[in-house]
Amino acid sequence: MNYVKIVRASAPAKVMLFGEHFVVYGCPAILGSIDKRVSVTAKHIGSAKINISSNRGLLASYSSEKLEKPDPKYSEAHNTLYPIYAAVHGILKDHFNVDGKYRGVEIEINSDIPWGAGLGSSAASCVATVGAVKSLYFKPEKKWVYSRALGAERIIHENTSGADCNISTFGGLIYYVKDTQNRKLKSKAELSLVVLITAIKHSTGSQVSYVKNFRNQNRSLFNDLANRATRICNKAVSALRVGNIIKLGELMNENHILLKELGVSNDEINGLIRFCLDIGATGAKLTGAGGGGSVIALLPNENLASFIRKIRKKGLRQYFPARIGSYGLLIE
Ligand code: PMV
Repeated sequence: MNYVKIVRASAPAKVMLFGEHFVVYGCPAILGSIDKRVSVTAKHIGSAKINISSNRGLLASYSSEKLEKPDPKYSEAHNTLYPIYAAVHGILKDHFNVDGKYRGVEIEINSDIPWGAGLGSSAASCVATVGAVKSLYFKPEKKWVYSRALGAERIIHENTSGADCNISTFGGLIYYVKDTQNRKLKSKAELSLVVLITAIKHSTGSQVSYVKNFRNQNRSLFNDLANRATRICNKAVSALRVGNIIKLGELMNENHILLKELGVSNDEINGLIRFCLDIGATGAKLTGAGGGGSVIALLPNENLASFIRKIRKKGLRQYFPARIGSYGLLIE
């Protein structure tokens, strides 16, 4: 068998327009892929190793033969990259003993997605890595990539809704419900969004655990918030269909109030949102797990330049305009 020696694949970041956290408990969410990507190069090597490096400065080497276990005594890089390693090991295992020449793989991750910012950087890394490594053997179906990437994402936080891996694999703008068929959405208006990144990196796992405890202790309040989140999400589908940016913005604001009640927002996020609304956003909310991470602001397309000028004047530097609907997984 002649295997390919080297493959590159890339996958996009995402924003959650509606429904984060509630999506973990079966409510719908609306997500869009954005034009920031992680690119992964996978290369066969002769030694029995899985070597992974990233432009975040992480570097780790693992066995390709026996699946190592994560262990706190290992370096931070070793543990951070472990889910990626586990996914790669699983793919190699399927193909072991097929060709004695190649016994391991080298993975290079290059990402322009800010990490710990609620933009799905870990899911995109899992998707691009699975896509690249499997393509060393043959080109996989996206559905297959999604399920393997989801397995890796579950190591990062076991309660993942799967939404991040789904949007990163398939791209576009989607209406997502955990474990069911998801559908592509069309927006009649172009969605002009600005992502503003707070100074606080978050851990999705801890935020999701926090919400789990909140739900256990406040079941009826949580159910009420979840029902309201579902209604908002469904109204947003109609607003998107007719291209009503004003309505969509209002719904984003309403969604943010629910996230505040859930306790996943904080003063920095709320301050940024107030500022965005003051300078012309039709709506703004946190995106992703919260506790830090990013805020998204929606605005009429023609206001983008003046909005950005005002952000800069305020001295904010961690922001970028985002276009919704980038390609999902791409394999070169
Ligand atoms: O912050 P991020 O990009 O990891 O997004 C997490 C989204 C949650 O709804 C909070 C969790 C999930 O698995 O959907």
